[in-house]
Amino acid sequence: MAEDFSVKFTDKQYLPDPSVKKNSWIGDYQKAYNAFIKDPDSFWDKNASELHWFSPYSKVKEWNFPHARWFPDGKTNIAYNCLDRQVQNARRNKVALIWKGEEDTERIYTYRQLYREVMRMANGLKKLGVVKGDRVCIYMPMVPEQIISMLACARIGAVHSVVFGGFGAAALHSRITGAEAKVVITADVTFRRGKSIPLKHIIEEAIIDAPSVEHVVVLRRELHQPVEIHREMEVDFYDLIKDVSPDCEAEVMDAEDPLFILYTSGSTGAPKGIVHTCGGYMVGAYYTTKNVFDIKDNDVYWCTADPGWITGHSYVVYGPLMNGATIIITEGTPDYPDAGSYWRIVEDFGVTILYTAPTAIRMFMKMGEDWPDKSNLSSLRILGSVGEPLNPEAFEWYYRVIGNNRCPVVDTWWQTETGMHMITTMIGEPMYPGFAGKPIPGVVADVVDKDGKPVPHGTGGFLVLKEPWPSMFRAVFKDPERYQKYWDTIPGYYTVGDLAVKNKQGYIMVLGRSDDLIVVAGHNIGTAEVESALVSHKAVAEAAVIGKPDDVKGNVIKAFVILRLGHEPSDRLKNEILYHVRITLGPIAMPSEIEFVTSLPKTRSGKIMRRVLKAKEMGMDPGDISTIED
Ligand code: WTA
Repeated sequence: MAEDFSVKFTDKQYLPDPSVKKNSWIGDYQKAYNAFIKDPDSFWDKNASELHWFSPYSKVKEWNFPHARWFPDGKTNIAYNCLDRQVQNARRNKVALIWKGEEDTERIYTYRQLYREVMRMANGLKKLGVVKGDRVCIYMPMVPEQIISMLACARIGAVHSVVFGGFGAAALHSRITGAEAKVVITADVTFRRGKSIPLKHIIEEAIIDAPSVEHVVVLRRELHQPVEIHREMEVDFYDLIKDVSPDCEAEVMDAEDPLFILYTSGSTGAPKGIVHTCGGYMVGAYYTTKNVFDIKDNDVYWCTADPGWITGHSYVVYGPLMNGATIIITEGTPDYPDAGSYWRIVEDFGVTILYTAPTAIRMFMKMGEDWPDKSNLSSLRILGSVGEPLNPEAFEWYYRVIGNNRCPVVDTWWQTETGMHMITTMIGEPMYPGFAGKPIPGVVADVVDKDGKPVPHGTGGFLVLKEPWPSMFRAVFKDPERYQKYWDTIPGYYTVGDLAVKNKQGYIMVLGRSDDLIVVAGHNIGTAEVESALVSHKAVAEAAVIGKPDDVKGNVIKAFVILRLGHEPSDRLKNEILYHVRITLGPIAMPSEIEFVTSLPKTRSGKIMRRVLKAKEMGMDPGDISTIED
């Protein structure tokens, strides 16, 4: 871990219009924060009580460091809170979900329609023998059926594990076997940039030697050339739900029952199955969506993330639906058929809240202001950012060009493990470009040195969370040691693994990871997973990867590779190795550069010193290399 270091930044401030604060749910940030600190349990009780509980909890939390139980004896169901609650009130015929495909296709579900589809899918899963507690892997493109599948699992108490559709067969296999999924739900193809990209063969490969899998449900979208269904194992999505009852009572779940597992990269070894539970996660996702995005009934809300990531779980699906919002999802990419596609969606549907990633914003910056200028963006009211630091230049562009100097920008810092937003600038508060903001009411965060002592403003340190929060992860699936590790690194706190700095006003700027994770275009990639994909190629003896700064993606992956005896470096071999990574891990984990080397810097205990590689790559001082082997 790095020692304290000083960080330079400016004090430039943007002041929002006073009306923003006046009309917001949260009102004055400091007042809300003080109320939370004065009595955290009442604060969370008040938020939780806005949701439906089949039977109430008698206490808010039990905290035995580092294990929490929230609303422990309460009984609820998050899918019930997303759907039944809305159908029972004036939102019955309100649009819940708009799906926008490529080539001008769209599908729209009202709350009632979504509710009925979810119940049918829930009954379909039951027909396959899925019961409460079983794991279901969802590996699908961004289509309504992906969301319907998630909600159907939640409705019957099955634990979903959504795997991003961009992962390859090996990555998918390890996630299916890790979670011991009984059923996998997938699609034949995903449509991207006007082409259909087959998915089903990836599943076919991924379920070899995955003995837990009993059925594969296949959504067939490619109507011209429907894929064959192998009946001994597979079932067509719509056949499965054709003759089932459209009624399915929501399972009464204990607040602490698991809701989902979501795999995230670790700095060492296999990806970690982050476990979230029904009650606490529900309250965290609900509260933050309501207050950070200030959702109101006439908002049209668009989060561009894929439900394969935590952002999609909390802020495409659960949070907004619990708030009765109209949500938009699209399978399209921001640059197809041209760089105006996102802005046309904003204009067409009258999007009021837009939540996207810095990497997308930087890409738009590169493509120029003409594109957004072609569309009328005046419906926008709030802009959000997530996944990596929103650098001041990107903030300024987003605020000025997209928000017309009018919309608050909420740069939200959080993680798969936290389940909900933790740090941001609540709307109505002054914004400091480059700084995510302050801990939201409900969260206690700080920047500390390695002993846990707060560092003065201007000095970099480790970001920690000091108190439990409802949507904190409860476990790393089947790996208690890795759970413990988060809490042992800096005694007494949850160490998030990011470096950060505070300004005089107490705003936090997140600087990047302090461990071996690489954040590429907002996606966490574990060095270990990429390195093991590289060495599984027959020509590769050893490999090390580092993140290299990139204008658009934040970071790209550079790989250093030592070849096995008998293999010579060549461009052809480079491409072969890249192809191998694409097929095993998926395109998102592909290095953008491979350099063949004959040795790697290592400690005497044999650990690769990636920091030395990185310093050399960037022409910087590698720092203390006294532990280097050679
Ligand atoms: C990074 C995504 C700076 C950070 C929600 C964190 C950010 C990791 C921000 C979690 C932000 C996320 N500013 N960095 N606003 N948001 N990060 O689990 O390094 O996919 O630890 O969750 O992304 O990534 P994850």
